[in-house]
Amino acid sequence: MQLQRILYGGDYNPEQWLHDPEILARDVEMFKEASINTVSIGMFSWSMLEPNEGEYNLDYLEEIINRLHQNGISTILSTPSAARPKWMSDCYSEVLRVNPFGHRYLFGGRHNHCYTSPVYRSKIRKINTLLAERFGKHPAVILWHISNEYGGECYCPLCQDAFRIWLEKKYTTIDSLNQAWMTTFWSHTYNEFSQIEAPSPLGESMVHGLNLDWKRFISDQTVDFAAWEIQALRDAGSMLPTTTNMMYHFPGIDYDDMANVIDVISWDTYPLWHKMDDIEISMDCGFQHDYFRSLKHQPFLLMESCPGPTNWQGISKLKRPGMIEAMGLHAIAHGSDSILYFQMRQSRGSSEKFHGAVIEHYGKKDARMYREVADLGKDLVELSELIGTTTDASVAIIYDLQNRWALEDSQGPRNDGLFYRENVLKPYRAFKKLGVNVDIISSAQSLDSYQIIIAPMLYMFRADIESRIRSFIHNGGTFVLGTFSGIVNETDLCHLGGTPHELMDVFGLRRTETDGLYEGEKNWITSCEELFVNEPYEVRHLCDLLSTSTAQTLYIYKSEFYSNTAAVTLNQYGDGKAYYIGCDVEQRFYDDFVSHLIARTVVNSAIQGIIPYGIEVNSRSSDSYTYTFIQNFNNHDTSLKQINLKGELMYGTNLDTLAAYQTIIMKTKKNL
Ligand code: GAL
Repeated sequence: MQLQRILYGGDYNPEQWLHDPEILARDVEMFKEASINTVSIGMFSWSMLEPNEGEYNLDYLEEIINRLHQNGISTILSTPSAARPKWMSDCYSEVLRVNPFGHRYLFGGRHNHCYTSPVYRSKIRKINTLLAERFGKHPAVILWHISNEYGGECYCPLCQDAFRIWLEKKYTTIDSLNQAWMTTFWSHTYNEFSQIEAPSPLGESMVHGLNLDWKRFISDQTVDFAAWEIQALRDAGSMLPTTTNMMYHFPGIDYDDMANVIDVISWDTYPLWHKMDDIEISMDCGFQHDYFRSLKHQPFLLMESCPGPTNWQGISKLKRPGMIEAMGLHAIAHGSDSILYFQMRQSRGSSEKFHGAVIEHYGKKDARMYREVADLGKDLVELSELIGTTTDASVAIIYDLQNRWALEDSQGPRNDGLFYRENVLKPYRAFKKLGVNVDIISSAQSLDSYQIIIAPMLYMFRADIESRIRSFIHNGGTFVLGTFSGIVNETDLCHLGGTPHELMDVFGLRRTETDGLYEGEKNWITSCEELFVNEPYEVRHLCDLLSTSTAQTLYIYKSEFYSNTAAVTLNQYGDGKAYYIGCDVEQRFYDDFVSHLIARTVVNSAIQGIIPYGIEVNSRSSDSYTYTFIQNFNNHDTSLKQINLKGELMYGTNLDTLAAYQTIIMKTKKNL
């Protein structure tokens, strides 16, 4: 997607204000004053666009798009499938979802529609066709926003049938399905595909292969629905790029697959700023930015963020002065080419009436949120050269949704929580504390361009990851495998003959058993050769017991019947290094371990020196320049005196001390 400016604006719902043209006119004035250049329209417009079946009204939309365009504001146009008009549910009940207990939902809410329903598919095809014919070549429309936050599942008879067809396509014969799921367990063997039902609390939920395939089916069906929506636009002649707004830590869709059907990645971010240390929140949110950027290894769009409090979180906290700038530039620092808000004008009624917005109920320019949004808007105009710049990362962390599905259903050493995300975040934080760019990839993505890869708790080996890890290490890479890894295959059957599956020689060990620790129970690890100064390190939740062959033991357990046995190991394999971290060990360990790895491996660190606590560093690159973002997520001034900053100050002021939530950007010529 070729952009001329960093997209700045957000979701706009003019339908809520059509009765008040003065407000609509004032909105445009206020947008201009805040340097807003883009709005997303149409996410929830279906009952306006088609108030009765077959009766279409697109004129109002065209007027709005034209007026915005005349004022220099582009439109991201949404297809309206996230919520439907009432008449449709009344005439065609099949469009409504059915829950796992077999009850059909009533009309209401949103995301309450069956992705399989032929009626729903034909209705969305028709309205998308009309939208594409009318706006697909409109000069103001720059991008299709396909639906809004796809998600959820339906258990209706149509979906159950589609699931059976999906299974038959995958397994061909019922015998191979029975084997793949090991249905002899509890005598659950199927004779025909037609006997299979989706998992349900009222029925089957203990066949892990079934549970996993149902999740895959739901994900595939949702992606197929998105592709169906896009095809309607293409068939109507619109070749505009497409996106769909994805969600934080969302378990319902394998976004790797969604990424294949859309052109541009976008996502919606609502971090709980100020709930605790903001650096912790910035790490968690930064991880998510990196995850979305890594789906296509291209700049992404920040599609929604909130300039104030939300309406749906436990506590709706105000953003402290400076946070609007910090969180927006944080997204840009991690690779976004936009800062977009939900929403442009605050609703007057219903569930989002207190949700923060660029223009609040008060409606004037001297409101605090509006002022901060407008100030950032002015600054962004100066940053256009960042558009399209990319993120160079020689480190990747594998965070795999399908692995998460299997882990959460493992019924293994800890049903009270395996802390997968936390195990992934620990090395991530350690790299970020050193200012290193990190890609977050699934196990299906290529490993080739990295020097260091960390795969915490990679319980399920899929997509031939065993052989790709082997060659990565053989060719000189450093690979770190975490506890409880390489245990099941793609259909959730345990590997026989020892784990990590097919990599025991590469890591020089075998995981013999895994101990689950009670909540509050601890173990410790210490190094055999006093590697790091901060030991012992605390261990919780999981401890693998390891039997080493060629691996060197770096750390041993201090307690339990397995004290003095290997906990962390290193094996040389080919030209590379294979580390195994056999336990859920505390953050301090990762901080030391990662510094040790970096010291031995060439990684493009953005700046030199010791990065103070609370300062986050990220960089983007063009062919000639590196742009280094230095952001203070402490709520107080922080000195940068211990850092050596190279290049010219491109954004911000004062190089010695950063005020709370302040950002500076350094521009450095490459190869200086
Ligand atoms: C998002 C959604 C928006 C709005 C927002 C409120 O998840 O896409 O439509 O509801 O939440 O925070």
